[in-house]
Amino acid sequence: MALRSTASVWGPVVQAFHWGMLLLLLTTIPIGYYMADLPLGPPKLKIYALHKSIGITLLALAAVRLLWRLGERRPAPSPMPGWQRVAAQTTHVLLYVLLFVVPLSGWLYNSAAGFPLQWFRLFNLPALTAANPALKVVAKQVHETGVAVLIALVVAHAVAALKHHFIDRDATLRSMLPLLRSRP
Ligand code: HEM
Ligand code: HEM
Repeated sequence: MALRSTASVWGPVVQAFHWGMLLLLLTTIPIGYYMADLPLGPPKLKIYALHKSIGITLLALAAVRLLWRLGERRPAPSPMPGWQRVAAQTTHVLLYVLLFVVPLSGWLYNSAAGFPLQWFRLFNLPALTAANPALKVVAKQVHETGVAVLIALVVAHAVAALKHHFIDRDATLRSMLPLLRSRP
């Protein structure tokens, strides 16, 4: 099976990262908003640990995804006004930036707050800094704002993809969908 992207479709590796990471984001973002208001106790600690483990997984996936993507060609975009092409590419770059900023700021916040960090109870990760109350406040702010911007960009990005598919009726969405690949 060809793993690489072609002139008309994104390859299966890019697609697997794309849709797999969307699923993980759809899991960990609701957990993030839900967990803060839980009463203190073991269930809260467990759900924080789950959020952090999925977040670290997303960070690792972002690094591998970016490395793979740097070696990929980009399928030729469907005909569209120049500003839309620039907007789409700028959004993709910003999404990559946020895929790093959000988990790294979470990790920094966790470290500055003096909490330990484990990946699915399998191994410990080091603290990025010693406990630091001032940094903790900044990192938390970056994490929360970063997530809000990420959500806004993903919504805009997904709406644009659907607009291309249903209104412009071009091949943009199909280029990222495995099942519809062969359709003209
Ligand atoms: C892409 C990965 C991640 C996403 C999308 C994400 C998302 C979120 C969201 C939506 C919240 C709630 C924000 C709010 O209340 O305004 C949150 C909070 C939090 N996240 Fe993450 N997060 C990610 C990675 C991480 C990582 C890797 C860590 C730590 C290692 C982490 C630690 C935390 C902590 C400690 C909070 C709670 C802040 C509080 O107590 O209010 N997150 N995250
Ligand atoms: C329902 C949600 C989503 C839909 C419908 C969607 C749709 C698409 C489509 C159709 C493309 C191809 C665009 C083109 O070739 O110009 C694309 C590319 C891309 N999307 Fe999404 N997407 C979604 C969620 C996400 C999420 C959550 C992220 C990351 C946080 C993301 C990041 C990207 C990136 C970076 C690209 C460029 C290709 C790459 O490097 O992976 N998308 N998306």
